[in-house]
Amino acid sequence: MDTERLLRELSDFLRIPSVSASPSHDADCRAAAEWVAGELRRLGCRDVQFLASDSHPVVWGVGPAVPGAPTLLLYGHYDVQPPDPLAEWTTPPFEPTVRAGKVFARGAADDKGQVFCLLKAIEATGVRPPVNFRFLIEGEEEFGSRVLFDLLRREPERTRADAVLIADMAYIAPRWPAVYTALRGICYAEITVRTARADLHSGEFGGAAPNAHEELARLLGRLKTPDGKIHVPGLYAAVARPTKRELAAWKRLPFKESEFLKERVQAKALTGLKRYSVLERLWALPTFEIHGITGGFTAEGAKTVIPAEATAKVSLRLVPNQKLKTVERQLALAVRGLAPSYVQASVRFLHGADPATVRVTHPAFKLLDRAFAEVVGRGTVPARAGGSIPVVNVLGNGGAPVLLTGIGLPDDRLHAPNEKVDLKQLWDGINVFRRFYELLGKAGR
Ligand code: BES
Ligand code: MN
Ligand code: MN
Repeated sequence: MDTERLLRELSDFLRIPSVSASPSHDADCRAAAEWVAGELRRLGCRDVQFLASDSHPVVWGVGPAVPGAPTLLLYGHYDVQPPDPLAEWTTPPFEPTVRAGKVFARGAADDKGQVFCLLKAIEATGVRPPVNFRFLIEGEEEFGSRVLFDLLRREPERTRADAVLIADMAYIAPRWPAVYTALRGICYAEITVRTARADLHSGEFGGAAPNAHEELARLLGRLKTPDGKIHVPGLYAAVARPTKRELAAWKRLPFKESEFLKERVQAKALTGLKRYSVLERLWALPTFEIHGITGGFTAEGAKTVIPAEATAKVSLRLVPNQKLKTVERQLALAVRGLAPSYVQASVRFLHGADPATVRVTHPAFKLLDRAFAEVVGRGTVPARAGGSIPVVNVLGNGGAPVLLTGIGLPDDRLHAPNEKVDLKQLWDGINVFRRFYELLGKAGR
């Protein structure tokens, strides 16, 4: 493998700041789509199209036709999360840098590095594997995948395939590749609280006028209490408990709560519902998180003001059997119920997705297991993930098995400063996917 060339090409991809959440990066998202399209053309795709959006197009490709061979749909995303806080990065997020065998950049692991592996694995086979490749590489995964949802509602036949492969996850531990049986869903919202017509002088009015930030803080503090319980009426009713077998299997995974705290979280304590194991809290229970709070005075210096409005960006993660639509309704009602009568509270939903469960019994999973076993010395262990990939359910609607896997490591720092991917994981990843394509081609339809 010409790793020097590969690293150069990946770096070109990583240098594009394709942040889907900010309109100021629309042109960069488009540029990342062009990069993907260029790769698809180089792989000999006859039909490369930009679909459903000018700024965040879904890149669609159809590989060279191999009559009678199985069809494999590859899914990934070229967009990334915002890189802030910038001051925390050792080297800038969009100047990929290699240190100690790792590439540091936003998107290195999530998901550009992994899309890169899927594509380079095709090129690396030399002799083309007898597989009909289809590509759906989207540019809005990190903002709820609205474009791809709309496209697949109109054109569900795009998902017609014998198998779907998604590489947007991680090993469960170093040297422990995984295949995922469930992903959490998400309900992302803004909660806004208004307490007066306009801001007020805190000396003239303080002591007698309501304060929007104070009301918002109280409301948020009631929505989730220190014991980890979320006070959204009805929220837990639909939650499906993992089976005894699943819980027993999780106990055998290479996961230690104390190590998770010390090495991954790097805080003083873990929080949440104490009567459940940490893996249950991460994989099988809903969450409520506050992402940021705005309003009032946050600039440099000091200003004495009573803010009239405050907004919190929040999200709930949903677990199997919960429904996005129900949770949206429940959250809106809970917020209304918790706000005092003199406070105007409203909820605006930004994006969301149902949770996903995947059965890992189709023969294709055996082939993926074998590819990992041959290349990295261990097959795939079934696990769940706490994160979300909005379109997973839709990709499986055509009946094809959805293979959710990845070549990242648990310490890749997704969405955080100094995101990285280990070079060894990239090169192994290319070899694993190449082997999987070969095995799938050999197995036929
Ligand atoms: N690749 C992640 C999802 C993921 C992360 C799965 C870690 C398993 C382990 C994906 O890019 C992601 O971050 N999704 C967002 C979706 C949301 C913005 C709609 C997420 O989970 O926050
Ligand atoms: Mn991702
Ligand atoms: Mn992500």
